[in-house]
Amino acid sequence: MIDFHSHIIYDIDDGSKSIEESLEMIENAKQEGSKYICATSHYMVGSYEPEREVYIEKLKSLREKVDGIEIAEGLEVYMEPSLPSLYKKEKIWGINKGKYMLIEFPMREVPKYSKDILYEMTVLNVTPIIAHPERNSRLRNDIKLLEEFIEEGYLLQMNASSLVGFHGDEVKTFAETLVKRNMIHMVGSDGHNVKRRNTNIKEGVLRIKELNPELYSWIKENQHNIFNGEDVQPLEIKEEVIKKKGLFSFLRGK
Ligand SMILES: [Fe+2]
Repeated sequence: MIDFHSHIIYDIDDGSKSIEESLEMIENAKQEGSKYICATSHYMVGSYEPEREVYIEKLKSLREKVDGIEIAEGLEVYMEPSLPSLYKKEKIWGINKGKYMLIEFPMREVPKYSKDILYEMTVLNVTPIIAHPERNSRLRNDIKLLEEFIEEGYLLQMNASSLVGFHGDEVKTFAETLVKRNMIHMVGSDGHNVKRRNTNIKEGVLRIKELNPELYSWIKENQHNIFNGEDVQPLEIKEEVIKKKGLFSFLRGK
């Protein structure tokens, strides 16, 4: 599997605090069956603005010390009106030098300007990947907005931990709905450390296989294309199954 989301670069955001911790996180990723891991450090204007040179230097120092797993570059970019200009200035970059960029929204909202900014990014040949939509309360209450994003050609990344209840029942139930409806395209650990927010993905991936074998196969077949910056053709969104009381049950007085 490919872990598309992690904070394994040390001393750059709120993820790994040291090179030793990074190496432990990467070792854990290997144990979890990840063959590739994207080092998607936060880029959040005003809080985390990693310099590319510093980022690359740390990435290289980790690559030198590990084998059996490939570490790819990336960022988790926080939604912000200046994203197109930051990209033009090469301050922010995509996954594995490709066209896909991991973008996160604030936890409880999707700012009004988001649709325009995401569209502007596509004009710059960037394809947005929405980071862990299941964790965003606005999106949990408005699945139609996620359907629109998919229809626009954007992809959705789910945290494996959401499917095992790490973020609570509400997030877990919504994550399951997204899986059942073919509304995710890749998984990530979103690992920040070696403790609670680790680089585990195995259990969550297994859950996808149980809930929707067709989607599991699609992810396995297409994840390398995404990783390599190539186009993919997502599975069609499945309709929501709404349990309604039928007319006859009404007539029967039930
Ligand atoms: Fe993250």
